[in-house]
Amino acid sequence: MRVQKTYWTVALMLLIAVYSFAGSLNTNTGLSLKELGAKRNVLIGTTATAWQLIQDGAFSDIAVREFDIVTPENAMKFGNIHRTEKAYDFGEADAIVDFCLSNNLKVRGHTLVWHTQLPGWVEIFKNDKGRMKKIMKDHIKTVVGHYKGKVAYWDVVNEAVRDEDGELRETVWYKSIGKEYFKLAFKWAREADPKAKLFYNDYASEIFSKKSDGIYALMQYFKKEHIPIDGIGFQMHLDLANPPSREVIVSNLNRFADLGLEIHVTEMDVKTMDFKGTKKQMEKALAQVYQDVFAACLSVKNFKNFTLWGLTDKYTWLSLTYGSVNYPLIFDNQYKPKESYYGMKRALEGM
Ligand code: G3I
Repeated sequence: MRVQKTYWTVALMLLIAVYSFAGSLNTNTGLSLKELGAKRNVLIGTTATAWQLIQDGAFSDIAVREFDIVTPENAMKFGNIHRTEKAYDFGEADAIVDFCLSNNLKVRGHTLVWHTQLPGWVEIFKNDKGRMKKIMKDHIKTVVGHYKGKVAYWDVVNEAVRDEDGELRETVWYKSIGKEYFKLAFKWAREADPKAKLFYNDYASEIFSKKSDGIYALMQYFKKEHIPIDGIGFQMHLDLANPPSREVIVSNLNRFADLGLEIHVTEMDVKTMDFKGTKKQMEKALAQVYQDVFAACLSVKNFKNFTLWGLTDKYTWLSLTYGSVNYPLIFDNQYKPKESYYGMKRALEGM
């Protein structure tokens, strides 16, 4: 009798184990980020270079499996695509767009009007307002026109507001054309591809500050002037030593949504070099930041896109720029998913 009882107990335990395994296959844990994102109506994005997508198989496998949308990291910037006045070089950008479109990935164009990575020849004309308008118009019409129907979103103007006081940044575009440059840039982008969604994109804008107030005032101006904008990009380059709170992100981003703007996170990563603690503590804290920030965004009105500035720590711009190793992303140098990857999944699963 005792033997029989043990037999059934073991059999029952085995049955439970089999069912719970089968059950676990049905839970969301086996789904990719983009599959989970689809359930929450949010696109998951990464930045990439053509080399990463075409030559690095491990990178492209993850990009195709986990992500919906790619932002070329540098390939579409003015200095890369329009190095000399008369010649456009679409080589790298075309390679990225072709890869994306043949692998069911959308593309975010980055960026049309910016003060950084501008070729020297543009500055030569900085005192000639008419010429600067013509340069900007030719650039926008040619680049957006070239990708008409292929690029779903454009960061039309990038980082036009000053960090310290929220006033307009004295870029070459602002100084030579005046505030009208915003209206012209968005108008020409809209004309070149009426179906692409147009964005203003900036960093250090996720919390309440003079800078985010300045961007908010700029967006109010866009609305008042009927400038054809669809949404706003919050870059979300964060610092693990000082992450923003969930509540602040929600109320700050919601005020922009209330202006009728689509809300996108466009460049999220987290600088880790100033975190005090062990590597293990750091990865755990990083996962919590990814979970908190993403969960916060998912509760913001009109939130539609969560793009990371890369996917693996191997290629992050942060380590190059700061000359110090950073671990800001969701896959490690060997492409193993990190705790932060699961942090994003937890946010998507509503945990
Ligand atoms: O391609 C050249 C290479 O030929 C040269 O040998 C090397 C030496 O410095 O430089 C290479 O170019 C670098 C380029 O990245 C490609 O690696 C540039 O110097 C470097 O300035 C450039 O940095 C980019 C940075 O924007 C420029 O401002 C980063 O990759 C890119 O991640 C970063 O992205 C920006 C977004 O566009 C806007 N928001 C902030 C974000 C992070 O800074």
